[in-house]
Amino acid sequence: MDPAILHIHEEERRFPPPQAFKAKARIKSIAEYNSLYEESIRHPEQFWAKQAELLRWFKGWDSVFDWDREACRFTWFKAGKLNVSDNCLDRHLEAHPEKVAIIWQGEPEQEVRMLTYRQLHQEVCKFANVLKKKGFRKGDRVCVYLPMIPEAAIAMLACTRIGAIHSVVFAGFSSAALKDRIQDSQAEILVTADGSRRSGKDINLKEMADIAIKDCPSIKNVIVVQHVKNSAAMRKGRDSFWHEEMCGISDICEPEHMDAEDPLFILYTSGTTGKPKGALHTTGGYLVYVHLTFRDIFDYKDSDIFWCTADVGWITGHSYIVYGPLSNGATVLMFEGVPTYPDNDRFWHVIEKFKVTVFYTAPTAIRALMRFGDAPVKKHNLSSLRLLGTVGEPINPEAWMWYYSTIGNSKCPIVDTWWQTETGGILISPLPGAMTLKPGSVSRPFFGIRPVVYNEEGNLAKRDEGGYLAITHPWPGLMRTVWGNHERYIETYWEKYKGEYFTEDAARIDKDGDIWLMGRIDDVIKVSGHRIGTAEVESALVSHPSVAEAGVVGRPHQIKGQCLYAFVTLKHGIQGTDQLKQELIQHVSTTMGPIAKPDYIQFADGLPKTRSGKIMRRILKAIAEGAADVGNTTTLADPTVVDELLKHRIE
Ligand code: PRX
Repeated sequence: MDPAILHIHEEERRFPPPQAFKAKARIKSIAEYNSLYEESIRHPEQFWAKQAELLRWFKGWDSVFDWDREACRFTWFKAGKLNVSDNCLDRHLEAHPEKVAIIWQGEPEQEVRMLTYRQLHQEVCKFANVLKKKGFRKGDRVCVYLPMIPEAAIAMLACTRIGAIHSVVFAGFSSAALKDRIQDSQAEILVTADGSRRSGKDINLKEMADIAIKDCPSIKNVIVVQHVKNSAAMRKGRDSFWHEEMCGISDICEPEHMDAEDPLFILYTSGTTGKPKGALHTTGGYLVYVHLTFRDIFDYKDSDIFWCTADVGWITGHSYIVYGPLSNGATVLMFEGVPTYPDNDRFWHVIEKFKVTVFYTAPTAIRALMRFGDAPVKKHNLSSLRLLGTVGEPINPEAWMWYYSTIGNSKCPIVDTWWQTETGGILISPLPGAMTLKPGSVSRPFFGIRPVVYNEEGNLAKRDEGGYLAITHPWPGLMRTVWGNHERYIETYWEKYKGEYFTEDAARIDKDGDIWLMGRIDDVIKVSGHRIGTAEVESALVSHPSVAEAGVVGRPHQIKGQCLYAFVTLKHGIQGTDQLKQELIQHVSTTMGPIAKPDYIQFADGLPKTRSGKIMRRILKAIAEGAADVGNTTTLADPTVVDELLKHRIE
């Protein structure tokens, strides 16, 4: 067994739901959860059909679930017709048109926008008409490369209104990453902004977009939101401003009747190979799944102010800023800034300002803020909070305890939610009114989810034995394919355990049935909760003219969780100077984006390789982590490279 999946730590602390929380919770006891869970497993079709009725359908489905196991294809709610924007907007117009749908807090304190359901509906219909005017129709791809501004949600919902498929690219990615994603999806329109803001600085997004689309002939139109109001260069005939397009256009746009299995969006994510894969999510199943998980895991109340700090460019933003909350008619807060600007109490300030009730963030942010102690928190009244959540990576018990006691004042349960871009919504998490929490455990599977852990031999792991996490049966929110590459979908997710979804995570299930995540088992590293494929960083490094070869691995980091450690072999005759290191770091940042910058670069004359030439990352990882023993090196073509690497290891 890989040492990474051996478990050593025993967590003894227990936190039952506070009485006051439990009394008002949707699901109030473990018995209630157990009975609903059992029903969802015993009669999945009946269960999901009932949940699907929470949404508005233009036409009912013919069959709830069909599964061609051989082809790894399945459908939910086949032939049912609905529209996502209709469910997220129109459906709420009768009940509460003036309820605020989106509160937007800009990075500058004075910049706040409130969009009611009525206003959001109008904006979405108008932008849908803009897309239509440009000739966009059902099935066409729209690339959205926007900062955290309401226009991102408006553009996404407008796509769903007309049945176009959106592909949102995180605005922290740079040109090359954007280019790859546009080329793969063959998007014909790019929605972007003149710039984005980051810690008081403006970043010229349009310039990056322009570099990317030089090599993207599929792009016919670029629509630019004037956000930072720089003088973005506009190309005649191709580029236009959002506000000009929206001027005078009708705000009436009938929602397209979409098939439940029609594609809704593509979202690119990193994997083991250098090429990101486009996870394809479809309309009906995805919406049912995010609707229900949002409602039950965040114990949704009409009066909630829900703040998810993720970027809309990641799956968390898609599912729990846009589709989950809005399909429930909730008020969501969208925040453009960062936790530490202009000061390290910005999060707490925003919670107090808008009386946020449910706060959902990442362990890396909690760790970063914990460093400043309790004083910045105590400056603010956080008594509006009733529930906390985390996502993206394992949370260490110290950070959990600080979050619980200092932020939640020991009265807010924490939902530690485990899921993935591929899974559409949360799969494993406590239900906050029903479950006793253990710091560091993600608790129990959500309704309809059947997790199993396999040991190295492929048998079911015993209680507390670490192993590989798989899910035995498809659920409505699971991605349907990799865009344009069903083979890759099969290979990555369905081949290891025939007919079961393989998560590429390690986990264990304890004696009470609670699940503990133990990290990725592939070459994907979570840096500050962002998913980074080491192969992508390696190819970015190798694209620099001085680099011959690179091996990138993760190293534990106090705040980021993991950071990147790169071993780089230079081309013959090139000197490994500090200046070159900085240049390489900058090169990765400009090709991939600042999130992928290595923290360490070690120059090396040779990398540990097998006789067939494969880089042995296991050994590089041991070196980067400072392990006392790097393990077996006898299969290496040249074992002496290891001594050299150890000698020059960066502390
Ligand atoms: O390793 C798991 C980790 O994040 C991976 C998925 O990353 P991504 O697709 O970017 O989606 C992140 C947001 C849903 C998983 O394979 N992960 C996510 N949540 C947790 C987690 N690891 C431990 N605990 C979590 N709560």
